[in-house]
Amino acid sequence: MVHPVLELKNVNKSFGPIDVLHDISLSVKAGEVLCLLGDNGAGKSTLIKTLAGVHKPSSGTIKMDGETITFDKPKDAADRGIATVHQFGGTFPLMSIGRSFFVGVEPVKKFGPFKVFDRKTANETAVKAVQSFGITRIDDGDRLIGGLSGGERQALAIARAVHFGARVLILDEPTAALGVKQASHVLRIVMEAKKRGIAVIFITHQVTHAMAVGDHFAVLIRGALAANFMRGERSREEITDLMAGGEALADLDDHMEPSSNQSAAAASLA
Ligand SMILES: Nc1ncnc2c1ncn2[C@@H]1O[C@H](COP(=O)(O)OP(=O)(O)OP(=O)(O)O)[C@@H](O)[C@H]1O
Ligand SMILES: [Mg+2]
Repeated sequence: MVHPVLELKNVNKSFGPIDVLHDISLSVKAGEVLCLLGDNGAGKSTLIKTLAGVHKPSSGTIKMDGETITFDKPKDAADRGIATVHQFGGTFPLMSIGRSFFVGVEPVKKFGPFKVFDRKTANETAVKAVQSFGITRIDDGDRLIGGLSGGERQALAIARAVHFGARVLILDEPTAALGVKQASHVLRIVMEAKKRGIAVIFITHQVTHAMAVGDHFAVLIRGALAANFMRGERSREEITDLMAGGEALADLDDHMEPSSNQSAAAASLA
């Protein structure tokens, strides 16, 4: 039997008296894009931080390849191949592409009694990795991270995670701050990671982005799993409604004056 790469069983998470996650059971397979949806404060980031070793579940289990695992710190999750890429790529504006690619894992060349950072190899490796994801505009590893667009930074961070053996790629709103074209680059990279057999967990507030790449959708409402379904099982309207907590559009209608222009807009949305 092929186990899911990552599986949560009855996971709960509380911070003191505050219950944030309730009894979450969910899994993601190799080569699958799981879109994690839900309104602000639903618990999406808390859930992925629990998978990435930032938080420990208060109860419940996490399995990787069928084996129960516990993470004491983010490095434990990273060592198992769970990589989190944050919005803006989480890199350093004043560092070169080549250097940032190897932060923590620098390729060194023996040079007499000294060890020096092998800039040429680092640059070539970084550029090759990011170009293999279709971002051909990045061709000079000496360029500074600060000069890259948001989409390019994301691409570089994803290429880096995959290069160093990520099996689960967690993306927390990678397209949130991007324009249409930049966002479409990131979505293409998500598809490329999927093609390489990586399990991708993709958080977004944008239905279009979720529907463009998702194989599997999980919707959190107030920390509970409100829906868990595969591509094609729900309509776009149902997904939009679930993402807004299933009640936002009704609320909007309630608060609109019947005579205002917005109420017509809200009605056309509903
Ligand atoms: N360390 C913490 N201590 C107490 N409460 C927390 C902590 N972290 C998160 N929460 C609470 O848990 C709830 C879920 O937060 P979380 O950040 O997971 O939501 P989210 O779905 O990622 O929202 P958004 O879409 O706005 O990013 C919120 O009510 C938040 O205040
Ligand atoms: Mg969040």
